[in-house]
Amino acid sequence: MLNEREKLETLIHLSTELGQSKDLDILMEHILTEARRFVNADAGSIYLRDYETLIFSYTQNDTLQRKLPPNEKLAYVNFTIPIDENSIAGFVAKTGRILNIPDATKLPATVPYHFNRRFDERVGYSTRSVLTVPLNTAEGDVIGVLQIIDAQDEHGNVMPFPPEEERMLMHFANTAAVALERAKLTRDIILRTIKMAQMRDPLETGAHVNRVASYAIEIYERWAKKRKVDGKEITKKRDIFRMSAMLHDVGKVAISDTILKKPAKLSEEEFNIMKQHTILGARLFLDGFSELDKAAAAVALNHHERWDGKGYPGHVDLRTGLSLAGYAKPDGQPRGKTREEIPVFGRIVAIADVYDALTSARIYKEAWDETKALKIFEEGTGTQFDPELTEIFFSCLEFIHFVQQRYPDKRAENL
Ligand code: C2E
Ligand code: SIN
Ligand code: SIN
Ligand code: SIN
Ligand code: FE
Ligand code: FE
Repeated sequence: MLNEREKLETLIHLSTELGQSKDLDILMEHILTEARRFVNADAGSIYLRDYETLIFSYTQNDTLQRKLPPNEKLAYVNFTIPIDENSIAGFVAKTGRILNIPDATKLPATVPYHFNRRFDERVGYSTRSVLTVPLNTAEGDVIGVLQIIDAQDEHGNVMPFPPEEERMLMHFANTAAVALERAKLTRDIILRTIKMAQMRDPLETGAHVNRVASYAIEIYERWAKKRKVDGKEITKKRDIFRMSAMLHDVGKVAISDTILKKPAKLSEEEFNIMKQHTILGARLFLDGFSELDKAAAAVALNHHERWDGKGYPGHVDLRTGLSLAGYAKPDGQPRGKTREEIPVFGRIVAIADVYDALTSARIYKEAWDETKALKIFEEGTGTQFDPELTEIFFSCLEFIHFVQQRYPDKRAENL
């Protein structure tokens, strides 16, 4: 158990730390881990508010986790409960009050709320002490509920949560709420940015973006499993990578319509301007330091690099667009990145994007048939594309055809 000084230090440290992470899932993991450590609790959950309901969004449970093989994730469903006085979490969200229940199986008859045994029964757990605090923003809105379960004494026996912990946990919840609200906002802004880029280029629509993202995460998952990347890590990366892949061409919003919508081959000068969409896209995420910002910048910047070093934009300084020191070719142009110099997300989106561009109609080209498109990859493996990833791509074709049916291109007259 933490002593008083350690608790204070944790709180202070946490305010700064939570202020830095912008990724919602990582943030919830952090909040719950620290809150539980604070009061030495076996389990806990976070509910996030969606209008008049609470969504069970994240949970941890040491007892259940110990029964699983190492690295395996605790499986749970994101059930919802109404915000009303009938449940413990609902009551706390509705009233904004903290509830410290010494034994959830022995609730007095006078209280309006009941303990929902559904979760316990499904997973084989028995909840006793429950401390539930509202997640209030600075404006006083409840954005969710933090629930800590089964406080333990130094021998591991379950005990009630000491009342003196309540105030501390409330402080903690307020800090967490502000960080959570910001993480949600960041995610919303990203989803809107994707929509805006799609509006700019309606013929390509969301379908292209969704297909590229779907192909890319499938390739990533297979690659990561082959490399024995931890399952939890893969799950975490999936969401981040999906959104990053959707944003790969977001820099095109800054390219003029005369170039972007030219119904013919681009001149050399026009193509040089078009190539800037990689740098322009990456700059949008330059000041962010969440995992999502970093991944989105890496994908936007690197999705036109080639395995053999003949791609673009190469080793550039993002702020100036010029070659990085030491990477200039004799003509002053930056050297292209090669092989593993290109981040793996960039190498994957390179494959997903070209396949989708070839098999779709563009304003400047007809759609190619599958055989002709696949030839590009047979010929390009080890030159244009990472050979290991190209092989994985070929093993995914069945999935890829499924995705094409799921996100078909819209014709102009349907827009
Ligand atoms: P995009 O249409 O999304 O195409 C992505 C990538 O798919 C291209 O990157 C290229 O590697 C591949 N690709 C597309 N069409 C063909 C093709 O007919 N043959 C081959 N071998 N590969 C193809 P790239 O070339 O760097 O182009 C980047 C973006 O520049 C394209 O994105 C598109 O928006 C624009 N663009 C490229 N060429 C033209 C063009 O001739 N006319 C117009 N209007 N835009 C072009
Ligand atoms: C989300 O809604 O948070 C995820 C969006 C996506 O992955 O497409
Ligand atoms: C986007 O990537 O969001 C815009 C659509 C495109 O130009 O490919
Ligand atoms: C790789 O490039 O093979 C892995 C490193 C990365 O995540 O980019
Ligand atoms: Fe691109
Ligand atoms: Fe694209």
